[in-house]
Amino acid sequence: MSSGLAIEATGLTKRFGQRVAVDALNLAVPRGTVYGFLGPNGSGKTTTIRMLVGLLRPTAGSASLLGHDIRRDLIAGLRETGAQVESPAFVSNLSGRRNLEYLGALTLGRVPAALVDQALARVRLTGRDRDRVRTYSQGMKARLGLAQALLCQPRLLILDEPTNGLDPQGMHEVRELIRHLAAEDGMTVFISSHLLAEVQQLCDRVAILRRGQAVAEGPVAELLSSAGRLRIAVDEPDGVDAAALVAEVDGVQIVAREDGYLRLAAPPEQAAEINRRLVSAGVAVGELVIERQSLEDFYLDVTGREAQL
Ligand SMILES: Nc1ncnc2c1ncn2[C@@H]1O[C@H](COP(=O)(O)OP(=O)(O)OP(=O)(O)O)[C@@H](O)[C@H]1O
Ligand SMILES: [Mg+2]
Repeated sequence: MSSGLAIEATGLTKRFGQRVAVDALNLAVPRGTVYGFLGPNGSGKTTTIRMLVGLLRPTAGSASLLGHDIRRDLIAGLRETGAQVESPAFVSNLSGRRNLEYLGALTLGRVPAALVDQALARVRLTGRDRDRVRTYSQGMKARLGLAQALLCQPRLLILDEPTNGLDPQGMHEVRELIRHLAAEDGMTVFISSHLLAEVQQLCDRVAILRRGQAVAEGPVAELLSSAGRLRIAVDEPDGVDAAALVAEVDGVQIVAREDGYLRLAAPPEQAAEINRRLVSAGVAVGELVIERQSLEDFYLDVTGREAQL
């Protein structure tokens, strides 16, 4: 079966009693992309991932991994899907290597030593692989989780906050590894994260969840360019209201009026029209700066600025 999508979800829903954790979610993750899955604490990311990899049964809706329906054909999908879901559980008295062999045997049958070696080398645990997991740092455990996900030589990698607990070098390394897997091996990587600067650097597309629903989805560059910010230094003649003039331009919202400055949310292509209106009304425009919005600004705009539980 060859669907163009690595992950597809339609109306995917999970209720825990009265609480709707994932609310009729639709997802379409194209093959070969690095896809960011974002959202505040409790917005339903892990629950979605757990449903996708068969750890939780959906209340409603359907999903597929690499074209395999998760209700009818989960095993076929998982054969080509590596997953790391929240803090992976390892047997702390066994070495990293033994854990991989053990987990690999559970899910894949016997795993050739060469594959274990390769997975350990990829996450740079080779020198410590015979040490017990209880002697590992948090970052080493995170790498071991990643090694376990790579063990089946997946075409799709699903990672729930893979850089959680890593130091800046470790984060950088995992980021480089993900880039490499996507670029060299053509792997699709679906990654949940709270590190928005990281996601902005790494991901081709993102979906942003809020209370179990996707409130934004698309290529990162497109999401950000559709919501640009302008900062304009204005000197208004008496009786002229610069804010009122620009507010009439299509797609413009006034964000703030500060001493001598206007801040607007506006499509960048409206900058010329905004400038023309101001100048023709006699407003001196000292400066007009298109501020690139960061993914963090965009994210806070669509998910709200207060923490929600
Ligand atoms: N087993 C469960 N039983 C009851 N409620 C649950 C269960 N698992 C998750 N929930 C609830 O579902 C909602 C979504 O939780 P989930 O763990 O999917 O969020 P998340 O987006 O992964 O958050 P975080 O960023 O904190 O990891 C939360 O309200 C949570 O309390
Ligand atoms: Mg989570």
